[in-house]
Amino acid sequence: MANNEDKFKKIIAHAKEYGFVFQSSEIYDGLAAAYDYGQYGVELKNNIKNYWWKSMVQFHENIVGLDAAIFMHPTTWKASGHVDAFNDPMIDNKDSKKRYRADVLVEDHIAKIEAKNDKDVEKAAKRFGDAFDEAQFRSTNQRILDREKEIEDIKSRLYSAMDENRLDDIKNLIEDLEIACPISGSRNWTDVRQFNLMFSTEMGSTAEGASKIYLRPETAQGIFVNYLNIQKTGRMKIPFGIAQIGKAFRNEIVARQFIFRMREFEQMEMQFFVKPGEELKWFDYWKNERMKWHLNMGIPQSEYRFHEHEKLAHYANAAFDIEFNFPMGFKELEGIHSRTDFDLNAHQQYSGKKIQYFDPEINESYVPYVVETSIGLDRTFLAVLSYAYNEEQLEDGSERVVMRIPPFLAPIKAAVLPLVKKDGLPEKAMEIFDSLKNDYMCFYEEKDSIGKRYRRQDAIGTPYCITVDHQTLEDNSVTIRERDRMQQERVGIEKINEIINNRLKH
Ligand code: GAP
Repeated sequence: MANNEDKFKKIIAHAKEYGFVFQSSEIYDGLAAAYDYGQYGVELKNNIKNYWWKSMVQFHENIVGLDAAIFMHPTTWKASGHVDAFNDPMIDNKDSKKRYRADVLVEDHIAKIEAKNDKDVEKAAKRFGDAFDEAQFRSTNQRILDREKEIEDIKSRLYSAMDENRLDDIKNLIEDLEIACPISGSRNWTDVRQFNLMFSTEMGSTAEGASKIYLRPETAQGIFVNYLNIQKTGRMKIPFGIAQIGKAFRNEIVARQFIFRMREFEQMEMQFFVKPGEELKWFDYWKNERMKWHLNMGIPQSEYRFHEHEKLAHYANAAFDIEFNFPMGFKELEGIHSRTDFDLNAHQQYSGKKIQYFDPEINESYVPYVVETSIGLDRTFLAVLSYAYNEEQLEDGSERVVMRIPPFLAPIKAAVLPLVKKDGLPEKAMEIFDSLKNDYMCFYEEKDSIGKRYRRQDAIGTPYCITVDHQTLEDNSVTIRERDRMQQERVGIEKINEIINNRLKH
């Protein structure tokens, strides 16, 4: 396969050509960082949601669901810290007029230095062959050590300036590192300014009576403000969790890379309420559980890794990301955060309502601590899509694109295809379609050669194609073709369901 950038472009083009993802409002030349999910995209997305919901809510006797409104009382965002602290430092290049996140410019510069070290390691590995000890090389080679020191110094300047909101120092750092705009190549920068990522709008009909409200930047706050409602009405005992899937909105400065970073996206979040002091035990538990969830899809471990946060968010006392090997490299897919009692305490303070749990085991009331698992639905979709996309050279010299989507997530599970459009085959195929449609998404098609129809199903990741031919009319048997190995088997119609259901297990 071509390089990663090419692969990414091909995936984006494929997603559009086969009805997975379209640019939002494309007929008006599109809206930046907003996307629409097409006929197959919506099925894949729903299947991912169901997989998450089942494993979090249905499989845990102590986790329940919620569907909170996107609009929330504006004080919510004051209490959560988003009004004051949900900012990104931004800087504009005066020549290209492009806007960047100042910290991302510095982090990209660090990545370039790291890449130089990796290159030196690669060269040395080639030179020394089997005798090469990477750890020893990294800890003794002077050039590598110098660069590591340089990285440390840059990080320390960046993070302390960010923590203390010293925007001038972030600009000085960009100038000292001689960072140039990737578009214009110039170092003609504006000052660094803070930019709040929340979208706001007005609620109410008259200008005087209207109040400013925000589109939620995370779903989590809907869970926090409903903590008491659910704990009381569900008679929940700690530890317990509340799970939610829903839209979130962020006015991202750098919104690119397809559905990886959007301004409107979907999150699947779960807040797990625990006894203070037990949060790190539960943090470890959920860290492992969440990784298992990813691996259970059938995507190998080598595509995932943990990344520990060096700089913790204002509410966290521990945080790890699960990163996925996207076409543009390892990037954050999910966050697992130990959020302490920050949010519940803040809502208690701002609302004036007591948000506490009476623990009958110790006869005491306390504000619970929270461990959060927060995963982007769209990023999971992109992870599945990028892993699934395969270009294959076939034995007869032809090529096919096959989406090796884990079968239980595939948009369509079975395509029912009459070999020809006559002789009663369409009617028989429709009968089979009707007998399967109750159990899973099926597809019916009678146009074009059977080979072309198989290719189209490969391209959307359908695990099975069922072909109805003249023999079907005689003995009630069909040909069932499997997507990955392209093997075809003649089976009785009554066997189809069993074969497909076996493949859908995970
Ligand atoms: N409640 C915690 C929270 O929102 P986050 O790390 O800001 O934490 C959680 O977001 C997840 O949401 C990320 O790991 C990512 O998968 C997804 N996400 C965040 N911003 C996104 C964006 N602009 N576009 C798509 N997905 C995004």
